[in-house]
Amino acid sequence: MELVETPDAMVAWAERHRHDRVGLVPTMGYLHRGHVSLMELLRPRVDRLVVSIFVNPLQFGANEDLAVYPRDPERDAEKCRLVGVDCIFQPQEMYPEAFQTTVSVGDLTRGLCGARRPGHFEGVCTVVTRLFGLTRCDEACFGEKDYQQLMVIRRMVEDLALPVTIVPGPLVRDADGLALSSRNAFLSVEERRRGLSLHRALLAMADAAAAGEVEVPALLDRARGRLDVDRPDYLEVVDAQTMQPLEVVDRPARALVAAFLGRTRLIDNLAVGPELSWT
Ligand code: PAJ
Repeated sequence: MELVETPDAMVAWAERHRHDRVGLVPTMGYLHRGHVSLMELLRPRVDRLVVSIFVNPLQFGANEDLAVYPRDPERDAEKCRLVGVDCIFQPQEMYPEAFQTTVSVGDLTRGLCGARRPGHFEGVCTVVTRLFGLTRCDEACFGEKDYQQLMVIRRMVEDLALPVTIVPGPLVRDADGLALSSRNAFLSVEERRRGLSLHRALLAMADAAAAGEVEVPALLDRARGRLDVDRPDYLEVVDAQTMQPLEVVDRPARALVAAFLGRTRLIDNLAVGPELSWT
């Protein structure tokens, strides 16, 4: 496994492997089984597997957790090695000095995390576009844990005709249902226990929808009753493709929640109503 630490060295690596099929799993590190599941999904599909680890300042707001975002490069490298990753791209600096370009996607980024974290998706799209350019990857894997991010990246790739196949990876949870996240490391035992209520609230909606309840306000009422958090950020049911809010679940839909436990912001989501086909 190679460790590549500068954008120039990444370009040189990509040039050496230009005849290989290259897969990329972009991450911000502090890797867990969710990240590993994406690597395992991509591994058999490509000749060379790259994992990028970069805590991208562009996608953090001024009052967010950039400075304290958890890091553990040695443990990350060990996890990558076990999956058979060929190359870890872990630069200190990602952007050129005269950097002045950003990539922004429209309507899909207006609601949910986009509304709560201004500039966030611009930061994500910009770094992901740059990672695609540096690694020259043919395929890239993104988790359904960040459902809006996955939809935004798919839109961007199609709109800009980027030559990268986006492979969605299922959301991985702990045995008790908590969605795995690097930020779970911030939770106290008590906060972690209450954090389970995000998944329970989503399950309550999915169960009710499966039992025939289609009115979104009624579904949201059920979910709100189960949320045990310090501060809800959003709780919505949206069209699974357009991400527009729904009044009635009459098509594939996604329930999404974001909430604070202490200073830690957790997100989770679940399919409700008819299944969405990815084809
Ligand atoms: P990060 O939060 O490190 O996540 C990296 C990838 O792992 C994303 O595609 C995310 O959806 C996926 N992931 C995280 N937790 C998961 C889980 N429990 N199950 C399945 N997949 C999971 O998302 C980012 O970093 C950044 O925004 C990035 C795309 C790297 C751009 O900076």
